[in-house]
Amino acid sequence: MTDPAPTKRLFIKTYGCQMNVYDSERMADVLAPLGYGMTDTPEGADLVVLNTCHIRDKATEKVYSELGKIRLMKQDMAAAGGQMTIAVAGCVAQAEGQEIMRRQPAVDLVVGPQAYHQLPELIARSHRARGERLAADFAADEKFDALPTERRPTGVTAFLTVQEGCDKFCTFCVVPYTRGAEWSRPTDTILAEARSLAEQGVREVTLLGQNVNAYTGGLAGLVRKLAEIPGLDRIRYTTSHPADMDEALIQAHAEIPQLMPYLHLPVQSGSDRILKAMNRAHTADSYLKLVERIRAARPDIAMSGDFIVGFPGERDAEFEATLQLVREVGYAAAFSFKYSRRPGTPASAMPGQIAEELKDERLARLNALLDQQQKAFNAAQAGKVLPVLFERAGRHPGQLSGRSPYLQAVHCDGPESLIGQIAKVRIDSAAKMSLAGTLADAGMLEPA
Ligand code: SAH
Ligand code: SF4
Ligand code: F3S
Repeated sequence: MTDPAPTKRLFIKTYGCQMNVYDSERMADVLAPLGYGMTDTPEGADLVVLNTCHIRDKATEKVYSELGKIRLMKQDMAAAGGQMTIAVAGCVAQAEGQEIMRRQPAVDLVVGPQAYHQLPELIARSHRARGERLAADFAADEKFDALPTERRPTGVTAFLTVQEGCDKFCTFCVVPYTRGAEWSRPTDTILAEARSLAEQGVREVTLLGQNVNAYTGGLAGLVRKLAEIPGLDRIRYTTSHPADMDEALIQAHAEIPQLMPYLHLPVQSGSDRILKAMNRAHTADSYLKLVERIRAARPDIAMSGDFIVGFPGERDAEFEATLQLVREVGYAAAFSFKYSRRPGTPASAMPGQIAEELKDERLARLNALLDQQQKAFNAAQAGKVLPVLFERAGRHPGQLSGRSPYLQAVHCDGPESLIGQIAKVRIDSAAKMSLAGTLADAGMLEPA
């Protein structure tokens, strides 16, 4: 595909989860044929898109403070005779709609996650008349039908959305309201996108979905088909729900070498009473048994999880149960959050909202344990030789940066020609967030 030489500057700032990262790329794809080229600063941009996240209070507030700054840039630009268009996309757009323009009148248009294919039209309309500026309906199939099938990947790894939306309705969570009902893309369009990515040098895809393992075509089957695409050497997926982790997918971890040994499987809490109040559809015990089955299939799998502390009514003993579960699982990585009261969700109206100080205290204790586990997991790699997919030049001259199968960042010295290649690296040392190593044998590159 050839686009016109860019005549307009586009700045996109992405908040929230990987799905937003994917969506931001797709927005850039939609806008490229209109002459929009990416710029890395909002100053002087013709179009500024904030792709927002609504998951926690802080995420939403960040957007409004950023909009305040961008409004000033818009004024500067107008004073210099230019015109900046400000668009708010993503989950805050879906949740708050027109309210955003009331709070920040400098915003020109609001576009929800299912309507990005309408961006060109919305921009034209806002330029013409400042007329109807809100598009936030839930027709995910239309979105994917209307987006260009070609991607322009910017690196050797890429996200690929296969499923959107969520029917789980965990009582704390806004996602079912901001992303709508569960919807899966047809397998053939996913495979076509993956092939196009592989042809352009992408070596690793991460399949995305709010509940990716609820993919209706069967995620295991999809992974098997993707594994047949030449050049696609690594396949990952996120985020999985424990209730949708089926036997076929567990088996896939045992049998498909391209499927990387890393699984993000959020548990949220280790207390059955809290899990029930969260409407999580699993217990601590069923989760532990599931992890056991996964580890039986793939013993070296690195487990990662999400945790919420201070859910309404959470007692000390119930928080202790979360710590206990963490000790039993042993996580390689984790994301932990203080419960944030989200408007319109059932939990926001529950009695027993927990004081902020207690949430802070619990979060600190949980994080201390999770940090310790992450350090231990990384330290255990020292002395091993791991296949590393090199993604980019490192921070120091002559250094490369890549990822281990377990998603750890790995730094090592080597030639830039290795970027996009998988090479064996002997791990010399480990820090909390990354590993350092030396090329084990430059002649031992894995076949492309
Ligand atoms: N679909 C994924 C991700 C949802 S959002 C899943 O089911 O896991 C990512 C994480 O944010 C959740 O796993 C949860 O831990 C956290 N989260 C969601 N709503 C929250 C809230 N109201 N307060 C604090 N953390 C929240
Ligand atoms: Fe939110 Fe629960 Fe759905 Fe995950 S499964 S997106 S936490 S409602
Ligand atoms: Fe945030 Fe929406 Fe993702 S609320 S976490 S950007 S699905």
